[in-house]
Amino acid sequence: MTISIKTAHDIEKMRIACRLGAEVLDFITPYVKPGVTTDELDRLCHDYMVNEQGCIPAPLNYAPPGYKPYPKSICTSVNQVICHGLPADKALKNGDIVNLDITVIKDGYHGDTSRMFLVGDNVASHAKRLCQVTFECMWIGIDTVKPGGHFGDIGAAIQKYAESAGYSVVREFCGHGVGLRFHEEPQVLHYGKAGTGPAFIPGMIFTIEPMINAGKRDIKSLSDGWTIVTKDRSLSAQWEHTVLVTETGVEVLTVSAGSPPRPETLLLG
Ligand code: MF3
Ligand code: CO
Ligand code: CO
Repeated sequence: MTISIKTAHDIEKMRIACRLGAEVLDFITPYVKPGVTTDELDRLCHDYMVNEQGCIPAPLNYAPPGYKPYPKSICTSVNQVICHGLPADKALKNGDIVNLDITVIKDGYHGDTSRMFLVGDNVASHAKRLCQVTFECMWIGIDTVKPGGHFGDIGAAIQKYAESAGYSVVREFCGHGVGLRFHEEPQVLHYGKAGTGPAFIPGMIFTIEPMINAGKRDIKSLSDGWTIVTKDRSLSAQWEHTVLVTETGVEVLTVSAGSPPRPETLLLG
């Protein structure tokens, strides 16, 4: 297993692709309202990426081994959908929570990022708490990244925090190296043991994208070949950033004017 170390040129290109990915999320934010269909969100993002940014939407026709080509340009994962939700002619409703996952390709480089959105003014407090704790899980994972540490540090920190909130961590999907390819080594687990796994080396670029379930961790795959839901139909949330290991710590690459800032305090003590 080899984890690529990005060159200064790669890093410059990744900063650009990642910022563009985050800017798609900024662009789509005002449209995430009750009544909008996930197909409309997909079309709006597709047109923005292609016509305004000069990017390629990485998901469109993406076909990893064992999968049929992904038919849309973004992933829209609503409520009990954990990840890879397919946009459809179905409206969001007041009280839903939805993850929008964007990956753009610019000059061959991939920028991968996702955020949760609260739909309307009637989201239940337990659903808001899940979204907030999952956001904090992502940042707790990011904060473990520095030379001298190991990939297992990320998962250990996330698992501890998520489980202390009474939630569970999805095991079957993980973060990943990213660059000229969408999914590169290593697999970045969101659970595990500190001090295990490969060491962090400056120049590594990967995602941290915890999927946290309000109920049990078990998943179920739908017959569309892509959509993953919680087996117990409990709510699930996810946030994703692409990060770079630096000489002194970590640089978050998927940042834009509208990126929610890192949490100043944690919900759980
Ligand atoms: N963006 C997702 C990730 O974070 C992958 C989506 S694959 C797709 O890794 F084909 F569903 F788009
Ligand atoms: Co990813
Ligand atoms: Co993603």
